[in-house]
Amino acid sequence: MLGQKFLTLDLGTSSIRAALSVQKGDRFHFTIKTAPSRGIRNGNIINLASAKESLNSALNNLKLESSVALPNEAYVLIPGGCTLGYQVEASIEFPGIKTISHNDVNVVKNKAKDELLRIKGQTVKSYYEVIHVVPQEFIVDTVDGIQNPIGRSGKRLTMRAFIVLASRSHVKTIADLLKELNLKLKGVVLQSLASSFGIRQPNSYFNNNLLLYMGAGNTEFIYFREDKPVLSRHLPFGSEDILEFLIKKLKVSRTEAERLYNEYGSAYAFNVNKEEVVHVNYGSRTIKIPKILVSALIHQKLKETFKDIKSILSEEDRDYLENLSGIYLTGGLSKLRDITVLAEKIFKAPVVIPSLSHPEITDVALSPIVGVTDYIVSLSDRKKLSDIREDLTKSYEKSGGFFASLWRFITDII
Ligand SMILES: Nc1ncnc2c1ncn2[C@@H]1O[C@H](COP(=O)(O)OP(=O)(O)OP(=O)(O)O)[C@@H](O)[C@H]1O
Ligand SMILES: [Mg+2]
Repeated sequence: MLGQKFLTLDLGTSSIRAALSVQKGDRFHFTIKTAPSRGIRNGNIINLASAKESLNSALNNLKLESSVALPNEAYVLIPGGCTLGYQVEASIEFPGIKTISHNDVNVVKNKAKDELLRIKGQTVKSYYEVIHVVPQEFIVDTVDGIQNPIGRSGKRLTMRAFIVLASRSHVKTIADLLKELNLKLKGVVLQSLASSFGIRQPNSYFNNNLLLYMGAGNTEFIYFREDKPVLSRHLPFGSEDILEFLIKKLKVSRTEAERLYNEYGSAYAFNVNKEEVVHVNYGSRTIKIPKILVSALIHQKLKETFKDIKSILSEEDRDYLENLSGIYLTGGLSKLRDITVLAEKIFKAPVVIPSLSHPEITDVALSPIVGVTDYIVSLSDRKKLSDIREDLTKSYEKSGGFFASLWRFITDII
């Protein structure tokens, strides 16, 4: 029996991807089609007509291969550069002890949103809209660490959350692009957040972990504490910038830079044989250069980027780096040879390229597009509220039936 189905689009710098995920039993089956990206840079749509053509091509291929009709609404990944992320805290006080309802959660959430927009000022309020409200914890009176407070009793409800805002104009551009292809924009999901869902296993618990996504035009990262995001940032850097650096430093054509990168590219120059030489084509001429030079240039660029990430982390909170227990590296650039070696040297923490939440998909560049489905599924989790951007409805109160209510009653009194 077929269950839910979702259409997800990834308007990346190098590739435009369209994914259809169809639920069969408790699993999702994915069909993913890719077209070369045109008209997009660092996640920004700079040429609508070209972007439309590329997206149309990916969608047409997806339609051809899918056994079911595509939904007429789509989720779209949004790159970190169009977003801002903040930690917030808000509390509401009740006149007496009351059982917390979905509506109380909505009230505390809206209070947190309003408070954030008030603090950030008119510019942020006019140019950005809220796309994620990820609760870190709820506190009912003195009990903290609560994942879902609905049904508990107390006099005061506090929510700590991580709120992500996205540029209104970017979201509107995406909506317009989709409209031209007769699709409705159902929702946007931050690329790095989606990627974190795309690598989750049933027992995953990210604590003092950095999720680092590196693509063709974007480097994005989220720091997790107690399995919740506490910081998200973006650097406009990706494999495209490495190629441009090779073109500039070696004075080669784009095609030649791509060939050198693909054939000899590696992130850790100390692992490259110093004696080996490679041929570089300059039109009609060919010149021999030490192979280590290609790697040294890539190494230099990546080292700068990793150091920038370190500076951002330590400026925010010294503990982020000191307690860093490991990095999950995702995105197409994570497939570069020895990139984990370089990252481990710089961050002084273990770096892994994780497998995806759906084991049949092995390409780590697909973690964001696959992760969107896991993110959507997580929205209906009653045990923990994973994103309460949309107001919760009454159905949230019917969680778990009599025994769950009894258990909550017992935990409230002990
Ligand atoms: N085996 C590999 N070795 C090195 N680099 C690779 C490898 N495979 C892919 N890449 C790089 O990864 C890039 C694509 O990554 P990805 O698909 O994550 O980016 P994107 O989603 O198109 O861009 P972005 O999200 O940054 O806008 C390619 O442009 C390529 O340079
Ligand atoms: Mg991408």
